[in-house]
Amino acid sequence: MPQSLRVALAGLGTVGTGVHTVLTRNAEIIQQRSGRSVELVGLADLDLQKATALSQGQCPVFSDALVMLRELKPDVVVELIGGYGFAREFVLAAIGQGCSVVTANKALLAVHGRDLFDQAQKAGVTIGFEAAVAGGIPIIKALREGLTANRIEWVAGIINGTTNFILSEMRDKALSFEEALSQAQALGYAEADPTFDIEGVDAAHKITLIASLAFGMPVNFQAAHIEGISKLSSQDIAYAEQLGYRIKLVGLTRRRENGVELRVHPTLVPSRQLLANVEGAMNAVLVKGDAVGQTLYYGKGAGSEPTASAVIADLVDLARLNASSGQTTSVPMLSFQPEHLQDLTVLPIADCETGFYIRLRVLDQPGVLADITRALADGGISIDAFVQRPPQHGVQEAEVVLLTHRCIERNLRLAISRMVQLPSVLNEPITLRVEDLA
Ligand code: HSE
Repeated sequence: MPQSLRVALAGLGTVGTGVHTVLTRNAEIIQQRSGRSVELVGLADLDLQKATALSQGQCPVFSDALVMLRELKPDVVVELIGGYGFAREFVLAAIGQGCSVVTANKALLAVHGRDLFDQAQKAGVTIGFEAAVAGGIPIIKALREGLTANRIEWVAGIINGTTNFILSEMRDKALSFEEALSQAQALGYAEADPTFDIEGVDAAHKITLIASLAFGMPVNFQAAHIEGISKLSSQDIAYAEQLGYRIKLVGLTRRRENGVELRVHPTLVPSRQLLANVEGAMNAVLVKGDAVGQTLYYGKGAGSEPTASAVIADLVDLARLNASSGQTTSVPMLSFQPEHLQDLTVLPIADCETGFYIRLRVLDQPGVLADITRALADGGISIDAFVQRPPQHGVQEAEVVLLTHRCIERNLRLAISRMVQLPSVLNEPITLRVEDLA
C-alpha cells in the first residue's frame, strides 16, 4: 500500500470544517481516485477547543500553525487562515520546508502571488488554488487542463456571490442598493464589513488569477481596474431591463493586440445571455477559446462543502503524483511553463473597448437630441439603441438613455465632456459599460 498523503490543515472556519467533513465522509472514494489515502495528520486553529472538537482524538491539534508545520513535517498544508499577514508567513514557511500548499486565499495570491509562485517554483513545490476562484466551480482546472489546446480570447465571470445576490434583489424587488445589502447581511451572504465584496475587490482578486492562467502572465492585481456596485441605482437596472439587458458585476479579462484588459465593473449583459440569468449568490464563468468557442461553468462560488470540494480536488492532484519518484508537480501552477510567463501590459481603462449605456437629463426642446448625437458622432461613436422618458407634467425636462456600439473608452469620455458643455444637458451623465459577450 503506498504511503498516504499527509495533510496538515490550518484554519477551521466554514471551509476548514467542510474539508474535514468531506475528507472523512468520502475517504474511501477519494482513496480509490487518488491511489492512496489523503490523511489529515494535524489541525490548527487559534481556537484550540474548536480544533479538539473536530479532531475527536484522530490527529494532534495546535493553536499555532507554524508549530504544527515544524513538528509534523506534512507533505502538504491547507491554508484556510485568510488575509495577508500570518497566512503569508505560514505559506512561506511551508514552501521553505519543501511542503506544497493548497489555499482558498485569493487575496493573498492576487496581491503576493508573483513572489509566492516564484518561491514555490524554486523550492520544487506547488501551490494549489482551485478553491480561490469561484468556490466549487473547477474553473482553474478547466483553464489549465481542459482548455489547454486553446488560445484563450477572453474570460468573463460573475465571481462574487454577494454582489450577484444584491443585484438580483434590486432587480426582482425594486430595492435600493442599501436595502438589498441589508438583506444580504441578514441572510449571512455579506460580511459584517462587506467592502471587498461590494467594491469589486474580491472579484478583482479572482479575475487577476484567471488572467494569469488564461494568458500566461504573472499575477498583476495592482493593474486591474476595479469598480463596485455601491453607486448603482435601481433606475439604471430598470432602464437596462427595458433595453433587453441585465446589470451584473462582471470580472472580465480579454487579450487584445496591444495588451490585456483586466477589469471589474457593473456591466450590462444581454438578457438572452446565459450569464445574465445567473441569479442569487451563484457564480458562473464564461470562457472563449479559439478552438472550443464559448464554454460556461456554473455553480456555488462559496460555502463550506462547495469550497471544500475544490480544496480536496487539489489534494487529490498531489496524491496522484508519484511520490516515490520525487515528482512534486505535474501541471504548471499558472498553466504555462514558468519560463514562458510574460509580463503582458495591462491596458488602462481608457484604452479598453466596450459598448456604453449613457443616461442624462436634458431640456425638452428642439435640437437637443441632435446636439447629443453630434457629440457622439464627432468621436466616431455609433448609437445602438435609445429610449426617452417623456417629461413629467409641467416640467420641461426629459430623461434620455442611449446605448452605443463598442468604442474605446477614451473617445467616449471625450464625447461626454463635450456633451456636458451643452446648455441643454442638465447633469453629469451616468455611464455604464455594456458587453454583448458574443
Ligand atoms: N465573498 C465571496 C462572495 C465568497 O461573495 O462570492 C468568497 O470569495
